[in-house]
Amino acid sequence: MTSSGLRAAAALLLLCAATFAAAAELSDKLRDDSELSQSTAKSFRRLMPVRFYSQVEQNPIANATLTLRSCTIFVPTNEAFQRYKGSIHVLYHITTAAFSKEQLPKSVSSDMDGNPPLYITKNRNGDIYVNNARIIPSLSVEMTNREGKRQVMHIIDEVLQPLSVQKNAKDNINNPDAMQFLQMAEQLELNDFHLRTYRSQVTLAKKESVYQSPGAHTFLIPIDESFKLSARSGLVDAKVIDGHVIPNTVIFTAASQHDDPKTSAAFEDLLKVTVSFFKQKDGKMYVKSNTIVGDAKHREGVVLAEIVKANIPVQNGVVHLIHRPLMIIDTTVTDFLKSFKENGENGALRKFYEVIMDNGGEVLDDITNLSEVTILAPSNDAWNASLIENLLRNRKKMREILNMHIIRDRLNVDKIRQKNANMIAQVPTVNNNTFLYFNVKGEGTDAVITVEGGGVNATIIQADVAQTNGYVHIIDRVLGVPHTTVLGKLESDPMMSDTYKMGQFSHFNDQLNNTQRRFTYFVPRDKGWQKTELDYPSAHKKLFMPDFSYHSKSILERHLAIADHVFTMKDLVQYSEQAGNVVLPTFRDSLQLRVEEEAGRYVIIWNYKKINVYRPDVECTNGIIHVIDYPLLEEKDVVVSGGSYLTESSICIILANLIMITVAKILN
Ligand SMILES: *[C@@H]1O[C@H](CO)[C@@H](O)[C@H](O)[C@H]1NC(C)=O
Ligand SMILES: *[C@@H]1O[C@H](CO)[C@@H](O)[C@H](O)[C@H]1NC(C)=O
Ligand SMILES: *[C@@H]1O[C@H](CO)[C@@H](O)[C@H](O)[C@H]1NC(C)=O
Ligand SMILES: *[C@@H]1O[C@H](CO)[C@@H](O)[C@H](O)[C@H]1NC(C)=O
Ligand SMILES: *[C@@H]1O[C@H](CO)[C@@H](O)[C@H](O)[C@H]1NC(C)=O
Ligand SMILES: *[C@@H]1O[C@H](CO)[C@@H](O)[C@H](O)[C@H]1NC(C)=O
Repeated sequence: MTSSGLRAAAALLLLCAATFAAAAELSDKLRDDSELSQSTAKSFRRLMPVRFYSQVEQNPIANATLTLRSCTIFVPTNEAFQRYKGSIHVLYHITTAAFSKEQLPKSVSSDMDGNPPLYITKNRNGDIYVNNARIIPSLSVEMTNREGKRQVMHIIDEVLQPLSVQKNAKDNINNPDAMQFLQMAEQLELNDFHLRTYRSQVTLAKKESVYQSPGAHTFLIPIDESFKLSARSGLVDAKVIDGHVIPNTVIFTAASQHDDPKTSAAFEDLLKVTVSFFKQKDGKMYVKSNTIVGDAKHREGVVLAEIVKANIPVQNGVVHLIHRPLMIIDTTVTDFLKSFKENGENGALRKFYEVIMDNGGEVLDDITNLSEVTILAPSNDAWNASLIENLLRNRKKMREILNMHIIRDRLNVDKIRQKNANMIAQVPTVNNNTFLYFNVKGEGTDAVITVEGGGVNATIIQADVAQTNGYVHIIDRVLGVPHTTVLGKLESDPMMSDTYKMGQFSHFNDQLNNTQRRFTYFVPRDKGWQKTELDYPSAHKKLFMPDFSYHSKSILERHLAIADHVFTMKDLVQYSEQAGNVVLPTFRDSLQLRVEEEAGRYVIIWNYKKINVYRPDVECTNGIIHVIDYPLLEEKDVVVSGGSYLTESSICIILANLIMITVAKILN
């Protein structure tokens, strides 16, 4: 052996032991070393994850290709190999031209019989996928074999799975397009899913050409089971079929950009339908159609469908089988909720349905009886909070909480947006005296919609799921079950920011995080403080000046009852009726008031003033907040005499302030 031969042998030995990462580094060296490249055919094989390599060796065509031809080979990691249960198609992993990651075109022909294509997706974040498998970027290796042919190996995280034909198939099925796929579905391995109904609708609507169209598209095909509702198949017309196709884009689930709406083939002036992919926390993949512009036959709204068999490659793209046709809105809100019965149609709201049924199911009857209804349905995850566990046993309270999620109206995002144009939209719920507050931030697909109810600020994670009699919006928290302290609430609620600010600089807020206490806090909303600005301009200004913080603090103290339990508005009305008046303990002395209910609204009578309660019963972990329309402010708090507005206590405070300022000046 020459010395370079020895070097080569040593390098090869090293390579055998090397991990992928190290191998990748070494491969750079190999490329530079012209002598070594003489024996690359061999070393190339040795770099390969061993499990796949043994498959290559056993396949004469693959083996010969590696020895003789230029090629790109996609090699699954040992781990991916182990995970995979089906049979391995080595030639599906090879294309007979060399492509570095940068050179990979949108699709390449595999070396399998019929040369079915492999689809390449390059994501925004730089990830590259071959069908559903991701190329592990640092592990690609490029070499020249003994014959002087360039070869590239990419390591991938999943075995590539071609369309798979049943053993007893009578037709010779070779690289079918989506239409042939539909026609020969019975001879394919599709986990016993059948596609007859949809296929006959495609034929009936004469839409074969959509499925035969050359190129690379994404086809969503509802399985037969999804047409159990007998009238449903009749609703699959030509437009609906178009809505199940994403032209000129191939989307494999692992490579899909979640919640990134793509225009479907049904996207024109009078009907606009987008389709997007998303994943639930439990790992299940869904597609949703959003009919943005509808017509008489195709209602606006979102339809969700679970993908029951994903990523079936065909000659002109990829097929996903789905559990429900898109675009078709033919169930009521009640039907929709019922469909979540145990591992039902899709699991996303299974918990919500269970809670309703555990509560006795009357809530569902109520929903059924509403001609127009919108539900804010907490996701499965939302129910996974410790505080909820305890509440579930309290049937009455739970019923109230459930009712807080129901609106007697058809309320989609467009409508919320209109209501929300200049202010936070307020919407009554089925639970008496509980309102929901919506806020929309951002535009289009970036819009974030939050909803507040009973002290909880939840985000809509799936909006506008359309039903015949209304909408379902999936939210990330259960409304009415507190999860923050009074302080946390003040800090984050956009309506309470003035009261929060005032309490911050006067250190009044410090106590509000104490979870040993039970606070009842009457919080003037920002608009309320703004009104005092009109009524008492100079007083208002001073309330927000740190120099007068003692004064602000004493005013805030008046708004805060501290006791061993909270006072809901209902409690206060009841006490008022019994005693004519309620006296609540505050830090210094007490707060005297009366509360009445007028036309479903609460009104506080304090010092002969009537103050509306804008948002009653905002529950917190250590108390309850009632948002009021005006502060508990007396004339004598704000009497203007020579520019001053002093009460007895505030005189002391301001004197104290003046003394401090003077002392500070003297000391300086
Ligand atoms: C595979 O190729 C190697 C190297 O060219 C050769 O030694 C081996 O016999 C081949 N195996 C088969 C099954 O063809
Ligand atoms: C629902 O409505 C029907 C008739 O409209 C009525 O008979 C039934 O009592 C209602 N159920 C509930 C729970 O309100
Ligand atoms: C619920 O929470 C527990 C622990 O907090 C966690 O183990 C479990 O996976 C969660 N369940 C869901 C559905 O998120
Ligand atoms: C809600 O209010 C309506 C009308 O004010 C009343 O008829 C109904 O009994 C109330 N429901 C509850 C649960 O208090
Ligand atoms: C929910 O909280 C966020 C963040 O504090 C806030 O921007 C949003 O306006 C709140 N939503 C509602 C409806 O109050
Ligand atoms: C309030 O208490 C919670 C824990 O109970 C803590 O996470 C939070 O930071 C506290 N907030 C402030 C402003 O101190």
